[in-house]
Amino acid sequence: MWTSIASLLALLSSSAALNIILTNDDSWASANIRRWARRAPSRVSAADTMSMRFIADVGAPYFGHDVKNPDLFYFNGTPAAAVVFGIDILAPIHFGSNPIDLVVSGPNEGQNNGPFTFTLSGTVGATYTAVERGIPAVAFSAGNGTHRSFTTNTGDTSDPANLAAQVVVNIVRALSNNVNVSQERLLPLGIGMSVNIPTFGPGINCTSPPSTFTRLTGGATVNQITLDPTTGFPVANNLEARGVNANINGVRDDPGETPTSAGCETAVSIFSVDYDAPERIAVPIQRRLRKNIRADNLP
Ligand SMILES: *[C@@H]1O[C@H](CO)[C@@H](O)[C@H](O)[C@H]1NC(C)=O
Ligand SMILES: *[C@@H]1O[C@H](CO)[C@@H](O)[C@H](O)[C@H]1NC(C)=O
Ligand SMILES: *[C@@H]1O[C@H](CO)[C@@H](O)[C@H](O)[C@H]1NC(C)=O
Repeated sequence: MWTSIASLLALLSSSAALNIILTNDDSWASANIRRWARRAPSRVSAADTMSMRFIADVGAPYFGHDVKNPDLFYFNGTPAAAVVFGIDILAPIHFGSNPIDLVVSGPNEGQNNGPFTFTLSGTVGATYTAVERGIPAVAFSAGNGTHRSFTTNTGDTSDPANLAAQVVVNIVRALSNNVNVSQERLLPLGIGMSVNIPTFGPGINCTSPPSTFTRLTGGATVNQITLDPTTGFPVANNLEARGVNANINGVRDDPGETPTSAGCETAVSIFSVDYDAPERIAVPIQRRLRKNIRADNLP
């Protein structure tokens, strides 16, 4: 994973510059995130775990910076730990007393669709941790899952990392356009966004996907385990199960992000970190429990 802090001056013409933390778990050398960091042309800092493999030996410090760029940091921890390190330790150094306006996680190498993946994804985990800290945050997960270094970026606009960076720029710009962050938050408290970008690559007829508003549920999958008939070992498969697709929250008429991002569309879902069941569902359950459990055990 890595976390970077960037001042996004050049993206914004009218409103004040944004203080942004960038984070990902695919290594700080990942083509996807380096490209996006370059589109944010001011100072950048990053923290990363995977990079330990490339740049540090056992016994190396738990965090450090790129030898060529003192503003890029790696951090040896989970994605959520890296973003918290960015929030608590790196941001005050880079932004002083100015607040962090946005955390951007990704673009991840691979999509993170549906509620099951939402809970286990490092990219989304860093995002909801930032939201829980009170900072607006957006996860970006790209369909192209090839793990590759920024040094393999062809520089062509059609390079999958550059196409994904363009989607990130467009969405961050749409989110921040005409918002004065000293007066208004980019997203309400407790709310974040998860964006799934379709697959870009050679031979795939998709370069500038339209954005579609989606919900996490709808065509989503959860794991099912079967036993491999040859080896006898358990194998995980994707199952489109009813529970993971129960549509309780969100905009009912929006399509699911899973089928949407499987085509040439960017799926834009808005989530909350309030995991309580809605009152209309919780209250009848409480009523039934109250009736059936001894009075001294429940209020
Ligand atoms: C943004 O809001 C601050 C605080 O109210 C104000 O000082 C500043 O002029 C505003 N910036 C713009 C570009 O309107
Ligand atoms: C992902 O991008 C890489 C680098 O351009 C490319 O080699 C690979 O074929 C792409 N994957 C897909 C599924 O298109
Ligand atoms: C590529 O997709 C566009 C629409 O997304 C379509 O109009 C065009 O015909 C497609 N081109 C090919 C070669 O399939």
